[in-house]
Amino acid sequence: MEISSIGVVGAGQMGNGIAHVCALAGYDVVMTDISADALSNAVSLIERNIARQVGRGKVTEAEMAGAMARIRTTTTLAEVGQSDLIIEAATERETVKQAIFEDLLPHIKPTTILTSNTSSISITRLASRTDRPEKFMGFHFMNPVPVMQLVELIRGIATDEETFAACKAVVDRLGKTAATAEDFPAFIVNRILMPMINEAVYTLYEGVGNVTSIDMAMKLGTNHPMGPLELADFIGLDTCLAIMNVLHDGLADTKYRPCPLLTKYVEAGWLGRKTQRGFYDYRGDGDPVPTR
Ligand SMILES: NC(=O)c1ccc[n+]([C@@H]2O[C@H](COP(=O)([O-])OP(=O)(O)OC[C@H]3O[C@@H](n4cnc5c(N)ncnc54)[C@H](O)[C@@H]3O)[C@@H](O)[C@H]2O)c1
Repeated sequence: MEISSIGVVGAGQMGNGIAHVCALAGYDVVMTDISADALSNAVSLIERNIARQVGRGKVTEAEMAGAMARIRTTTTLAEVGQSDLIIEAATERETVKQAIFEDLLPHIKPTTILTSNTSSISITRLASRTDRPEKFMGFHFMNPVPVMQLVELIRGIATDEETFAACKAVVDRLGKTAATAEDFPAFIVNRILMPMINEAVYTLYEGVGNVTSIDMAMKLGTNHPMGPLELADFIGLDTCLAIMNVLHDGLADTKYRPCPLLTKYVEAGWLGRKTQRGFYDYRGDGDPVPTR
């Protein structure tokens, strides 16, 4: 099945990046959010981000104009229903996502493929609440979407081959690379990455190293471009904790227990860059200052 129009539900950090890359690749994009402000912020952010690509010579002025003209926004969820493919990128809460799919059902075409950008919620469970589990799968972009090369494509237990092939063709047209994952908690990237970040927090908690030595050790010792604590601040410590809880609950193995220090930072509201403080303090003008 050929996809030519894409509906994006949720215009936050991920939704705006998804709309950006899809419009640049020539898809007609309808983006929806419950917040009109989120939609207007997303459109101005997309414009600024594509303009930066024009500045670097990666995109032409004409391609930018074409992409911006292909993005339409609406606060009415039903209006994304006529899209060939819908990518849900709303808040990471199962009840929110379930309600979105339930509300979408009366408005979608028989052929519409439904997908979720969820980082950790079961694709099979989300699919089971719709009328088309065979046309439902995980479409997991990495943050920031315009920069990161990978998309994880996650098959639910019922996902059919035609749906998978149609989504894989979209990833190819976006110029990205797909890694295929089965539907188990946190899929591939976060299944491996989050326990590493959690272990870095344990290393800090037990006093094996401080923030600076842990991040420096992993950058220089394993050639990672960012240290694990710096990366955790970038992702958001609440997100890291939520994914550890999904692993812990979903796989019932104590090796996934979230570090109490990670929980404490989240309880303090020190969520990383988005709140200006996490394992580093970003409030000053100079370099971020380690908080331990
Ligand atoms: N942030 C990341 O690094 C990252 C990476 C990969 C995947 N994800 C996944 O992407 C999804 C979105 O994450 P984000 O970081 O963009 O979150 P975000 O908080 O930046 O954006 C979520 C948006 O969803 C909107 N929203 C909430 N309920 C809605 C509804 N009923 N209908 C329409 N819009 C609604 C909110 O208004 C908000 O604008 C989550 O499932 C998350 O797990 C996030």
